[in-house]
Amino acid sequence: MKVLIVGSGGREHAIAWSVSRSRRVDKIYCAPGNGGIREIAECVDIGAMEFDKLADFACENKIDLTIIGMDDPLVGGIVDVFEERGLKVFGPRKNAAIIEGSKSFSKDLMKKYGIPTARYETFDSPEEALIYLENAQFPIVLKADGLALGKGVLICQNLQEAEAGVATLMLDKQFGDAGNTIVIEEFMTGREVSVLCFCDGTHIAPMTSAQDHKRAKDGDQGLNTGGMGTFSPSPFYTEDIQKICEEQIYQPTMDAMKAEGRDFIGILFVGLMLTEDGPKVLEYNARFGDPEAQVVLPRMKNDIITVMEACIDGRLGEIELEFEDNAAVCVVLASDGYPEHYEKGKPITFMKDFSAEEGYYVFHAGTKQTDEGIVTNGGRVLGITAKGDTLQKARENAYKATEWVSFENKYMRNDIGKAIDEI
Ligand code: AMP
Ligand code: GLY
Repeated sequence: MKVLIVGSGGREHAIAWSVSRSRRVDKIYCAPGNGGIREIAECVDIGAMEFDKLADFACENKIDLTIIGMDDPLVGGIVDVFEERGLKVFGPRKNAAIIEGSKSFSKDLMKKYGIPTARYETFDSPEEALIYLENAQFPIVLKADGLALGKGVLICQNLQEAEAGVATLMLDKQFGDAGNTIVIEEFMTGREVSVLCFCDGTHIAPMTSAQDHKRAKDGDQGLNTGGMGTFSPSPFYTEDIQKICEEQIYQPTMDAMKAEGRDFIGILFVGLMLTEDGPKVLEYNARFGDPEAQVVLPRMKNDIITVMEACIDGRLGEIELEFEDNAAVCVVLASDGYPEHYEKGKPITFMKDFSAEEGYYVFHAGTKQTDEGIVTNGGRVLGITAKGDTLQKARENAYKATEWVSFENKYMRNDIGKAIDEI
């Protein structure tokens, strides 16, 4: 069969790699793709938001399944456009992707259906938000309602910071219309865990857990980024916690979406905080995590196409997900200065081959193929993933493999997965 993947990051490279392992797939296309994806897929020069052009391409090339990797096209309704054209597509429709597209929607959903999350209030007016903050407890969290590349969340230590935060989001509109509405919520403490789940509208099948490192610098310092590295599984996400999440969070979320007439089919990413009062939802996303996919998919034993088709056909209940009994760590190689100012166009040298059979992977994010070879083309450039029998071993392997790649302004965190030393 022929598969089209929509997106251009490390996550889409990991999805493409996973799809390439399926015996049922003869040909993979990726739109728009990047310098590394082109080694396993034919890259097509169509943007992820060009829904009609993508659907035309899928019709003309008789694509059997299209997989949407990114949030923007999902929230914008790409799945509805494909379905209207009679095309088979994996991802939630617009009315379900809103679970990521609007934080006020997802908070109201959790409140209505008793799903554990931080206490919150929603505001459309900066004046009312400021009045509320006068009597609030600090620290407090301000969130832009809409999509903001993971950067629309401000943790404010005092009233002054919170007032400045309201101005940034609602008056200066740093994240555009995403800040027309804001959610102000209770600050929670604990371990963060990401759990990605396959969903068929009725059934939900959680994958193995992962943890992201969002801050730019070692010791969780510096600005928030898209994610500087991940490890899987999270040793803090025990079987007992998983059971609580299944009973109180995963299935109730599926049921809530169905009750609202918004059947969720695709990947539901549940961002959890393991608090003293039990696991609570930090956020939902409507897609694989980036770079969570880069540590979860290399450990998955199932044929990803079979699982995705079961989701689309409402047969997920028949599938048992299986993961290798090992660990994986992904270290992101970024351009120095990310997430602010950084230079692009630096030639990348690979000193050694990455062999998946031996448990080493290089997932391209911001790279481009030029006549002179592969060059950097973004803030997050590559994700270096390695497996190992234990998390410690996987981390050692991943850091060893970061030395097999060089480019002029290469930057990485040196403490990805370090939290695991504490247990
Ligand atoms: P989100 O995009 O909602 O996941 O938020 C981005 C990051 O902000 C999360 O990964 C957390 O580190 C942090 N964060 C979000 N909400 C809260 C909260 N209520 N309490 C503490 N930290 C939070
Ligand atoms: N790594 C966090 C995300 O994909 O949203």
